[in-house]
Amino acid sequence: MQQLGMVYRNYAKTVQEPNSEVYFGKLHCSHSTYEHLIAATADTAFQFFSAIKKPQDVDFSQQAVCGAIKDFMVLMQTYDKLPFTQKKGTTSNGSLLWVYLFNRLFSPDIYAESGVFVGSSLFIARHGAPNAEIHGYDPNLNNLAFKDETIHLHSCDWSLDPIAAKSDRDLCYFDDHIDCAMRIIEAQGMGFKNLIFDDCVDVGQFYKYRYIGLPTVPLIVDPKLDDGESVEWYHAGSKKYLRYTFDRQQTRGAENLIAFAVQIPDLEPICGLTTNDQWFVQLK
Ligand SMILES: C[S@@+](CC[C@H](N)C(=O)[O-])C[C@H]1O[C@@H](n2cnc3c(N)ncnc32)[C@H](O)[C@@H]1O
Repeated sequence: MQQLGMVYRNYAKTVQEPNSEVYFGKLHCSHSTYEHLIAATADTAFQFFSAIKKPQDVDFSQQAVCGAIKDFMVLMQTYDKLPFTQKKGTTSNGSLLWVYLFNRLFSPDIYAESGVFVGSSLFIARHGAPNAEIHGYDPNLNNLAFKDETIHLHSCDWSLDPIAAKSDRDLCYFDDHIDCAMRIIEAQGMGFKNLIFDDCVDVGQFYKYRYIGLPTVPLIVDPKLDDGESVEWYHAGSKKYLRYTFDRQQTRGAENLIAFAVQIPDLEPICGLTTNDQWFVQLK
């Protein structure tokens, strides 16, 4: 009698090691598959950048986006071999691609990163914007494994050692899990217009996090939220129940400083690189 398992076909064969021509994120693939994946990813990124306000003298063309994604894939071959890249708490690969794209396309004079940890995103930003003056902030710089003498490091909150933006192409990247309203107000005070927030979620995804930069950007820009609305969730990692109650006063008017806020697309379904809940905010 035929065994039930034999009825199913599986066309994927096991191999000793990959011998494909090119590398794309988590895949090794043929040139044509690589080109398809690049085109699909570039399409999403191009649509995203087309919807935001273009600073002067930047190139958001499909060609520019496509070229930057290809360069990122080459860079990831180096990045993946660095000793700190797999460490828990580092920025996910899809989020890194966005950090890289923003840096490549905006070509900022100043890039400020709050929450540098081991330096994964700092490494990517340095390569995305080789000419930028980069400032990295973290009250605990002991974990920083990516060392680069061109980067200005600050072992404190950025509000204690502020900098001034030089152009409307300058960028801030917040991966510090700190109050987004406060960050928006501070960034506006320093003259920054373009802000990326990592691990920034709406209520439905609170359960994923122990520390959330509350009030997050989606809460700040949601006019339907009423004071007193609350949510409780179980955070499996810390085995803790948490509660948050919305209070409009906590946004301190940050919503009035925002010209445009949008969730950055998750690239996981398109190319396997996970974007970890990023939002982009442009200030007035
Ligand atoms: C999720 S990790 C950042 C990961 C980093 N992007 C990477 O790829 O390596 C968050 C970091 O925020 C830092 N942090 C906590 N409070 C901060 C503050 N007030 N300002 C800046 N960084 C802070 C923590 O020390 C931690 O290193």
